[in-house]
Amino acid sequence: TLVEKHVFKHFMLKEIHEQPGVVRDCLQAYLDAECELESEKISEKSAEKSSEKKTPSPIHLSIPSSWYQDLEQIEILACGTSWHASLVGKYLLEQLAGIPTIVQYASEARYAPTPLRPNTITIGVTQSGETADTLASLAMEQHRRVNARPEYAAKLLGITNRPESSLAQLVPHIIDTRAGIEIGVAATKTFMAQLIAFYLLALDIAWHRQTLPQSRLLEILKDLRQIPAQMEQLLQDQEKHIEELAHDFNETHDFIFLGRGINFPIALEGALKLKEISYIHAEGYPAGEMKHGPIALLDEKVPVVAIAMPGSVYEKVISNAQEAKARDARLIGVMPKEEPEAKETFNDVLGVPCVDEILSPILTVIPLQLLAYHIAARRGLDVDQPRNLAKSVTVE
Ligand code: G6P
Repeated sequence: TLVEKHVFKHFMLKEIHEQPGVVRDCLQAYLDAECELESEKISEKSAEKSSEKKTPSPIHLSIPSSWYQDLEQIEILACGTSWHASLVGKYLLEQLAGIPTIVQYASEARYAPTPLRPNTITIGVTQSGETADTLASLAMEQHRRVNARPEYAAKLLGITNRPESSLAQLVPHIIDTRAGIEIGVAATKTFMAQLIAFYLLALDIAWHRQTLPQSRLLEILKDLRQIPAQMEQLLQDQEKHIEELAHDFNETHDFIFLGRGINFPIALEGALKLKEISYIHAEGYPAGEMKHGPIALLDEKVPVVAIAMPGSVYEKVISNAQEAKARDARLIGVMPKEEPEAKETFNDVLGVPCVDEILSPILTVIPLQLLAYHIAARRGLDVDQPRNLAKSVTVE
């Protein structure tokens, strides 16, 4: 099919703007409609009173429920941006579903695989469905579990937007993220769709294993439904602002991105997006680790982008950001504009709607994509086809 840019200057910008629709489609495909969620709530109340009866999950991923029984571990294999989505996935699987989760670079796992453990689901995450290392590491996992005792049998799952890809031939079950084809080499909407797949998976496991109160689960699902509108609001509020802000970084050679907890992988992704398309050196770091190294790099020439969303690590991130400011760094906050610290601590703010911390990565990544895009576009670079990079890496 012919994919066109329409009003957008680059495919990457078009794909950034497609994200609210991608999230809507994915939720619609796998999640009960809102009214059904509401009726779940009512039946939940009666269930609480009478017995411990379990209502069926409102999430429909077509993963065998036997895979969830006795589940002890999840292992995720991925590369690049998909690896970053997997790190958010680990946070969700551990903190919501209580499943210990290992995230490996596929290119590393091949030569240093995790010792075999029973009752493990292995997930390959890849937007192209063709990345050689990811496919090879999954095949290896399949192979080393072939003659194993039943509890060690391979349970391979793929997460991809390419249901016709080699990945889908290799694994028995996939979650089709439904993001469709992405043209820009720097992944944006496919990353977003992978995040949503991980939310659905973690919440589905949590539902089956009852690791969260149903009321909390339903609350997260309800908030998830509001997210596409909040993404639209963010895009509308921030696009012009970020485009103008990008002017200030014509001479910048280095950027630091800080995040903590569920937003640490988003700091990594923000740095990767900037490197990929603007060729500016950037590092993503867990905010609390800055004092163990990167702080030595800081001066007035190195902007620091801190993801500071209200929640369990908010105060800590603010104090880490203040440490950077004390070294004269220009401080950019990714946070709700209404927070008092937005004005008190930061030089610039990329405003993000206030949202439950657990869902915040879905929103915080968007201003970072826009920042990378506008800095690169302003430098006149080939945003959709950055030098030395390929959309699909079929060499090992
Ligand atoms: C290439 C692309 C990246 C992508 C990575 C992994 O390097 O340029 O955008 O994140 O491959 O690709 P995959 O298709 O496995 O997600």
